[in-house]
Amino acid sequence: MSEPQGAEAVVLVGGKGTRLRPLTLSAPKPMLPTAGVPFLTHLLSRIREAGITHVVLGTSYKAEVFQEHFGDGSGLGLELEYVVEDEPLDTAGAIRNVAHKLREPDVMVFNGDILSGVDLRGVLTTHRQARADVTLHLVKVDDPRRFGCVPTDEDGRVTAFLEKTENPPTDQINAGCYVFRREVVEAIPQGRPVSVERETFPGLLAAGARLQGHVDASYWLDLGTPAAFVKGSADLVRGIAPSAALAEGTGEALVLAGASVDEGATLSGGTTVGAGCTVAGGAVVEGSVLFDGAVVGEGARVERSVLGANALVQAGAVVSDAVIGDGAVIGARCELRHGARVWPGVVLPEAGVRFSTDV
Ligand code: GTP
Repeated sequence: MSEPQGAEAVVLVGGKGTRLRPLTLSAPKPMLPTAGVPFLTHLLSRIREAGITHVVLGTSYKAEVFQEHFGDGSGLGLELEYVVEDEPLDTAGAIRNVAHKLREPDVMVFNGDILSGVDLRGVLTTHRQARADVTLHLVKVDDPRRFGCVPTDEDGRVTAFLEKTENPPTDQINAGCYVFRREVVEAIPQGRPVSVERETFPGLLAAGARLQGHVDASYWLDLGTPAAFVKGSADLVRGIAPSAALAEGTGEALVLAGASVDEGATLSGGTTVGAGCTVAGGAVVEGSVLFDGAVVGEGARVERSVLGANALVQAGAVVSDAVIGDGAVIGARCELRHGARVWPGVVLPEAGVRFSTDV
């Protein structure tokens, strides 16, 4: 397939990822390992697969970590550039802040924490056919009440940006992927925080700009919360979520090199076992993400949870819908459920905690 001419990409990766704490205390959200690689690798690979090679990362929180890992991008077939914000500029402010690096007429902009199967070339085609100022990927969701929604008219033109409501008039929501004409980027106010959803898009609409919707119902997940993060990772491992960075149909579990899994352990539901992890006999690990060096003791149970790097879940403990920080120790026979989060390095004594929410 030919490369799309005249397009480049910006990925916003500067958020603090507060909803994913404590995991985001040590790494920015887009760098958290999902299905064995930093989450951002999946998105960058899809951008490359669509034929776009020039990508600018808008960074702020833990900015240096991205360049240390991806360098000039050549490992992924990309030309990667980085622009650091001294103070976080919010989404549109971050887009404006990279304008001096842009050189093509059409700029695809991505939130760096979205896992999506949208046809990126299709979004670009919609933008060009409509001669739009901005095109937004709008995804149809089952329960639009949880999101602000974005209705369109019969020509696909955006008619409003509506806040969350109990009776949304459409099931289309902003999917966090846009195409901007470069002049529109240059018109965003410079040097102060600006939000695309709250300021730029409503302002453009009020000014009569052409905002086009590209509506689809492909796979879509915002990985902002622990529950979404484990689901996204499991969907990647099971081949449900699209990625150009993984072998097809990986299966029920992905065990990375250097991990040791006892043959009496059960791994299922798209679990990832990171490098250097140990899973002992009789342990059950389902739909979970084990960062490098995590240890699951004999007979322990880990469900829909994240174990941070070198975290230790001792024999017979239960960790369910929980996030365990780097190096934390969950004592034998403790039970942690229902969104519990354990901060890095915390040591819970044997049988010391049951059903806690935050430790
Ligand atoms: P929460 O704190 O958990 O809400 O996460 P977040 O900080 O990542 O915010 P949110 O999920 O709303 O951000 C959406 C996308 O925009 C993510 O990819 C963020 O990395 C990115 N983002 C948010 N704020 C900024 C910012 O000030 N600068 C840059 N460069 N990116 C941002």
